[in-house]
Order: sequence, then structure tokens, then C-alpha cells
Amino acid sequence: MICLVQMNILGIESSCDETAASVVQDGNKLLSNVVASSMDLHTKYGGVVPEIAARSHIEVIMPVIEQALAEAELGWDEIDAIAVVYGAGLGGSLLIGVLAARTLAIVHNKPLYAINHVEAHLYANFITSSALPDYVLPEKQPIFPMLGVIVSGGHSQLVLFKDHFDYQLLGQTYDDAIGEAFDKVAKVLGLPYPGGPSVGIKAMEGDASKYKLPKAKMAGKYDFSFSGLKTAVLRLAQAEIGEDFTFPSTKLAERLSEAQKADIAASFQHVAIETIVDKVRLAHDEFSPASVIIGGGVASDPELRRQLSAALPLPISYTDRKLCTDNGAMVATLGYFKHSLGTTPSDPYTLDIAPSLSM
Ligand code: KG4
Ligand code: ZN
Repeated sequence: MICLVQMNILGIESSCDETAASVVQDGNKLLSNVVASSMDLHTKYGGVVPEIAARSHIEVIMPVIEQALAEAELGWDEIDAIAVVYGAGLGGSLLIGVLAARTLAIVHNKPLYAINHVEAHLYANFITSSALPDYVLPEKQPIFPMLGVIVSGGHSQLVLFKDHFDYQLLGQTYDDAIGEAFDKVAKVLGLPYPGGPSVGIKAMEGDASKYKLPKAKMAGKYDFSFSGLKTAVLRLAQAEIGEDFTFPSTKLAERLSEAQKADIAASFQHVAIETIVDKVRLAHDEFSPASVIIGGGVASDPELRRQLSAALPLPISYTDRKLCTDNGAMVATLGYFKHSLGTTPSDPYTLDIAPSLSM
């Protein structure tokens, strides 16, 4: 008789405005996924206010973790390890998750794994089954060598993985991340934060070929830049209402018609996504990866999925949209591979945050 020992990892994420915890079994099965967002508190400011996010994490972190265990129907005895995001992110926000995880690791005597948020985004793609309803997941785990595409609010990167933890950063953005560009364009168009979904919805009513917006040419073959595109959108909106570059961006939305907003949103979205897809296709042609995976909030954009699938010769599996934005499941999944492949755990008495951690 084969006796299979199941391994349950608790993942904790608090790097920005989401407080999240999840239990993942054997690095592939989702048992729980609890996300409390303070997004509503930030909407009126048009972006995340770090102090508000940190305060909210303090209030909800323990209830969120308790709910993640309860939904997984597991007690502490059945948790094998704790994984927590220690960077990159907002200092005050990261501190809350890391301190909670350190304390729980000491109290319950569990190994503690420090997780890179950006790397974790890609590991959401390793979840292939769920005890929870309404998750659309890949049928199989990705295989190596794999090309990872990170498109979030803080990062835009292309990473080539030979194996777990053995990767090479091919390129990244020189300025704004793609999600940040969506958020800033949303502000110009008077659309709600977060900008990714709201620009995407507005774009559906618009004509993507109405305006020709620029694509940045970079010295690095796999590098990106989105700040020029964002400024081009601002100048376009000013020109459309007959004003010059001194006209304030905060007053533009009230002067633009809904049709103009939709056409600008669609034209911007098309070029922003095409910028990413061009480089992914280039990297695919050079490195011939066995799989291409995509992670981060912008990975849920239907236009990105459409363009990427059309551009690449290999089939791409996309994960559920709930696992593209920040969550604890991606953290638990990467934690599983650290635990099962023998990574040395962190010292729960000293683990520090690393707000500007990179891949
Ligand atoms: O990965 P994420 O939740 O947080 C970071 O690590 O930054 O990504 C957040 C970003 C935001 O910029 C948001 O506008 C964008 O992801 N986003 C989307 C969508 N949902 C969130 N962008 C495009 N389409 C979406 N459906
Ligand atoms: Zn993220």
C-alpha cells in the first residue's frame, strides 16, 4: 500500500492593500483563499495610501489567518510550514504580515519561509485543483524551462526559469509597471481605481485603432518602459479637448466625451499589452521554453490573454483571475516548493522585511 503524506502550507501576504491568507496542499491544491482588501478605503484617493493600508492589515490579519485555517478545515497540528511575503512592497504593510508569521511560527513551532512577492505571482500557476468552488485552473503544472511574465501594479518583468529557484532576469521596466500605467491612465480618464479593470471595461466600447500611441524603443532587448505611453495619453486627452500641455490632468475627464474616453482607453490598452506581448514572443523565439506563464494583476486582462495566445505557438494556461491579483495561495505554493526541496527556513526571531526586493 502506498502511504502518501500530505503537506499543508499556510501562505500569508500583506505587501500592499490586500491582507491575504490561504492553505495550499502539496503545492497544487487550493484548500482556502481568504482576501480582505482595504481597496474601498483608498478609492477616493485614486491609489493606495500606505498608512491606511498598514492600519487595515493590523485590524484584519489575525481574523484572515483564522478564517483561512477554518475554511481549509485544518488545525495548527496539520499545518507543516508557514510562508510569508517579506518583499517587495510597502514597508508598513509588509511588517504586519511578517510579524504575524514570525509570531505564529514561534508559538506553533513551524518552519518559516520568506517569500518574494514577485516570484510568488508566477507560482499561482502551479495550482491545478481546488476544494473551493468557482476556480478555473490550469489542468497541469507548468514545466521547465519556463518563461515567466510578471505584469503587476509594481513590476513588469520577464524571467527565464531553468528550474525552481534557478532563474535569470531577462528584462524589466525602466520606469512604470504596466499596472501602474493602467492606474494612471484611469485617473486621466476619470475611471475608478484600480485602473486595470476599469480601463479594460471602458476599452470594450472603444476603437483601439482610433489613436496611434507610441511604443517605447529600449536599449535592452527585453526591457520595457510605460511612462512615455502614459504621458502620450495625457497629451492626447489635452489635444482632444483643444487645450495645451498646461491643462491640469485632474480636470480632463469632465471635458472628454464617453466615446473619446472609450477610444483612448482601447488605444492605450492595445499598445500597452502589445508592448509586453512583443517581448514575450521575442524571448520565446530565443529561448524556446517548454511553458510560458503569466502572473500579477494585469494577467487577468482579457485583451492580454487574447493577444498572448494569438502570438505564441504553444498553448498557454491561464489561472483564475482571483489568483492573478494579490493572494496568499501563490505564497503558500512557492512555500511548498521551498519546504519540499530543502530550502533552509528563516529564523522566526530575526526575519526582516525587504521593501525593495527584486528577482
Ligand atoms: O498583482 P497585483 O494585485 O498587485 C501588485 O503586486 O502590484 O496587481 C495590481 C495591478 C493594478 O495596477 C491593477 O490595475 C491591475 O493589477 N489589474 C488589472 C486587472 N485587475 C487588476 N489590469 C488589467 N486588467 C485587470 N482585469
Ligand atoms: Zn502583486
